[in-house]
Amino acid sequence: MNLDELNKVARAMVAPGKGILAADESTGTIKKRFDAIGVENTEDNRRDYREMMFRTAEAMKNHISGVILYDETIWQKAKDGTPLVKIIEQMGAIPGIKVDEGTKPLPNCPGELITVGLDKLADRLTKYYEQGARFAKWRAVIDIGAGIPSYTAIRTNAHALARYAALCQAAQIVPIVEPEVLMDGDHDIDRCYEVTEFMLKETFQELYYQRVALEGMVLKPNMAVPGKKSAKKASVQEVAEKTVKMLKECVPGAVPGVAFLSGGQSDEEATAHLDAMNKIGNLPWGLTFSYGRALQAAPQKAWSGKAENVAAGQRAFTHRAKMNGLAALGQWKADLEKAKAA
Ligand code: 13P
Repeated sequence: MNLDELNKVARAMVAPGKGILAADESTGTIKKRFDAIGVENTEDNRRDYREMMFRTAEAMKNHISGVILYDETIWQKAKDGTPLVKIIEQMGAIPGIKVDEGTKPLPNCPGELITVGLDKLADRLTKYYEQGARFAKWRAVIDIGAGIPSYTAIRTNAHALARYAALCQAAQIVPIVEPEVLMDGDHDIDRCYEVTEFMLKETFQELYYQRVALEGMVLKPNMAVPGKKSAKKASVQEVAEKTVKMLKECVPGAVPGVAFLSGGQSDEEATAHLDAMNKIGNLPWGLTFSYGRALQAAPQKAWSGKAENVAAGQRAFTHRAKMNGLAALGQWKADLEKAKAA
């Protein structure tokens, strides 16, 4: 393992004013997104949609540090035959790859999940590196509900995350470690804080046991937010203050960067929260975005599967990338949203 090189990539992923585009929806998940805009879920449509984003020079060159790809996409070629990975590189962004193979029920823990995909991961990582991937992602899912999460789910998922991270570093790939505490449910922000804190502490303990070099990884956590069905809402400032406090309690300063998932927050909420955290300032790590839905919902809608809408889709993508890039610097203002390119 060349840690200097891993550290260089990790720092580039969280470079000031830039963040990560999570475009790694599985074929099943992108179907749900395409269903919502009336687009058939074919290989060509998935390619055309992602090619549209990757060719958006203004967004990609100025605001996107890296792109998380799904297995299908990393091998795909654009319409003109250029590998999609090459287009991402030409835009100055780093290609990355989702390597977990989804979730399975966790035995003895009703309703809870374990992320799978460790078997043969070492071989797959070698192939992904050869194909251009310089970072990877593995997502653990922790749900909050009556009597859950169990310690079994927290510990088993943290262990798998750490095993994955160690395998990545051995293959000279920066692991994005993503322990996602879901925002489904009716819990309040303090319950989310408590569960996320537990999960993060357990994750860093397991990373230590697996001898993962913190300088060569990026953390992708959820923010401390109330559940979607919670009766108790939280202000932007409360989310920002509690999330920063939670991260400071749990994330060692040796970690180069934290790149949040959006997790079902609205586009503007995801941007406002990130901005408010960066306005607090004085943080030991870079704090940016690794959004899927909060970057893509607007361009998906604008594109709607029609070739004549590509320019509109690209404008919408540029706008969201720019807003989040400003938020990563703590320089976003709510009125900038209105200047949205139509
Ligand atoms: P969302 O921003 O839509 O939560 O997706 C990010 C991601 O990569 C989840 O694994």
